[in-house]
Amino acid sequence: MAFTGTGKIWMNGSLVDWKDATIHVASHVVHYGSAVFEGARCYDTATGPACFRLDAHMKRLIDSARIYRMESPYDQQTLTDAVNNLILTNKFKACYIRPLIYRGYDSLGVNPIPCPVDVALMLWEWGAYFTKEAIEEGLDVKISTWARNAPNTTPAMAKSVANYANAQLIKMEAIADGYAEGIALDTQGNLSEGSGQNLFVVREGVIYTPPIGNSVLWGITRDSVITIARDLGFEVREQTLPRETLYIADEVFFVGTAVEVTPIRSVDRVKVGKGRRGPITEAIQQRFFQVVKGEVPDPYGWLQPVNARQTATSGAAKSR
Ligand SMILES: Cc1ncc(COP(=O)(O)O)c(C=O)c1O
Repeated sequence: MAFTGTGKIWMNGSLVDWKDATIHVASHVVHYGSAVFEGARCYDTATGPACFRLDAHMKRLIDSARIYRMESPYDQQTLTDAVNNLILTNKFKACYIRPLIYRGYDSLGVNPIPCPVDVALMLWEWGAYFTKEAIEEGLDVKISTWARNAPNTTPAMAKSVANYANAQLIKMEAIADGYAEGIALDTQGNLSEGSGQNLFVVREGVIYTPPIGNSVLWGITRDSVITIARDLGFEVREQTLPRETLYIADEVFFVGTAVEVTPIRSVDRVKVGKGRRGPITEAIQQRFFQVVKGEVPDPYGWLQPVNARQTATSGAAKSR
């Protein structure tokens, strides 16, 4: 969905109009992918807008920055408060939340250290990532010819914009070949994840997902789904899975902030199970949507109501 181009964006502590939230073309990030980011969601609940695990997303943002030796001039609490205030300023009931920490304008050597560390927070309305039918019927996906990043290259655990060059190759190839999405293998040929989703496989009542060491992002929805599935009484195993697991699975599904919980009905034109959403996927999906929409009690403290908040340092950088 194209941007409406309206509303405010938070840039280095100031609120600017969407159209004015620009950076110089010589900024380091434009040339060398020197940025880390997050993607979180705010849901419209009966008691007002509420963010899903914003604390975990902000922690991962700071962790990603740390891996890349970027010290955010704003601490986690300041950024969290700024997101809450921005949601209220923009009067959103539900939205997607995109924090970005990037290397800005100074010089263009590969060494990023001379460049300032800048921060932006933006919001927009983003409904279902795939079609509504996909949520019920499932996606047709392919195994990508592109592998995920090898260990000890660009780190999978950091949500760096650089990793999304690989994700774009996976996604474009899938679409060009007539599929909704691609599943990438790691460099050893084991299952890794989608272009922007973690992967789950169900066989004989047991739920499996590739472990963090198989070049996957340490997904917050992945963690939520593991918790929900165990609370529903299912066994969940994090283990390395060969490619062919997908062709003999009873159910396969993607999870992620953007895709939420989305079934997969075929892989490489091979039907998954009966070729439609399976019962375990449906049970997890239903519980997930009930929790994020505040329709059932939230025993996990995941749904965080949006309130106007002010920290001592709110809007002010630690050191700039
Ligand atoms: C590559 C990749 N894997 C997995 C995920 C799912 O992570 P999360 O549930 O934290 O959004 C995402 C989305 O951020 C992603 O981009």
